Amino acid sequence: MSGIRPTGFLHLGNYFGAIRNYVKMQEDYDCYFMVADLHSLTTHPDTKQLKDNVHRVLAENIACGLDPDKVALYCQSQVFETSELYLYLNMLAYTGELGKTVTFKDKVRQSPDNINAGLLTYPVLMAADILLHRAKYVPVGKDQEQHLEIARTYVNRFNHRYGEVFPEPFAFNYNQQLVKVPSLNGSGKMSKSENQMATLFLADEDDVIRKKVMKTKTDAGPQELNSQKPEYIENVFSLMKLVSGDDVISKFENDYNNCSIRYGDMKKQLAEDMVQFIAPIRGKINEILNDKKYLGEVMEKGAAKAGISAKATMQLVREAMGLNY
Ligand code: TRP
Repeated sequence: MSGIRPTGFLHLGNYFGAIRNYVKMQEDYDCYFMVADLHSLTTHPDTKQLKDNVHRVLAENIACGLDPDKVALYCQSQVFETSELYLYLNMLAYTGELGKTVTFKDKVRQSPDNINAGLLTYPVLMAADILLHRAKYVPVGKDQEQHLEIARTYVNRFNHRYGEVFPEPFAFNYNQQLVKVPSLNGSGKMSKSENQMATLFLADEDDVIRKKVMKTKTDAGPQELNSQKPEYIENVFSLMKLVSGDDVISKFENDYNNCSIRYGDMKKQLAEDMVQFIAPIRGKINEILNDKKYLGEVMEKGAAKAGISAKATMQLVREAMGLNY
């Protein structure tokens, strides 16, 4: 089970870091992927853009290979049991603990005039999402580790107080180390909040992709045979490894090692390979976005699937809690 916040556009880092994991998981597990529209209300109370944003996230994930027939792909607010479980879990959540959560403290710093209770209990809602399906494996990045630890705390409190209902959820990843997609500005990784020019979005037009790639930092080239690559050059090679063929990569490796590399050519090649990679995904995203009927059907089907699992869990929860009059 995992959740995706409907804020902003997906980029190459999301693709190689998260979505590829989801797409692989759908073959091996019973998966629940959810668009976290309720979570977005904690920071974005204005809902004018919400529907468009939810549609975009759905379209992007489907275009990347998530199959709504294989997984339950649904929208959080359409599965009402989420809110019920959130309420019960709130009674097992101590405000002192929640106040110490790193993400909460960050948000307090970022928007001191909107420190609402929903922000404080963000991890409780996330625990509800996971426990609703009694999920064990949660594909998330490092920044969500603390939230998962909180979810495990509630599992233990609940099971201890009311009886064994939930398994403990853990972060899941196929590879030992997560794939890092370097930013185009020479250091760090791609992210939606950083410089937009340093991040390739799946929605970027061909010319935008070319322009961004051509701006990547390089230098005059190595001066000694087989020298070590500076970080920003290593990053260009890393990006190439994501989308270019092995022959292309070894050509530029050789050129680098014998000091004949021309970074202009390398970036041109990288730009074209990025275009080849992103353009079909972008095309699919737009196709899906234009088909509102299909999106409606996807959401309906997803909510129905998630509802079955949610209802079964809530039955157990109410029985365990003695709320079955
Ligand atoms: N908090 C997650 C994020 O910021 C999104 C999320 C909401 C989530 N509910 C979840 C992730 C449940 C995993 C499981 O990215």
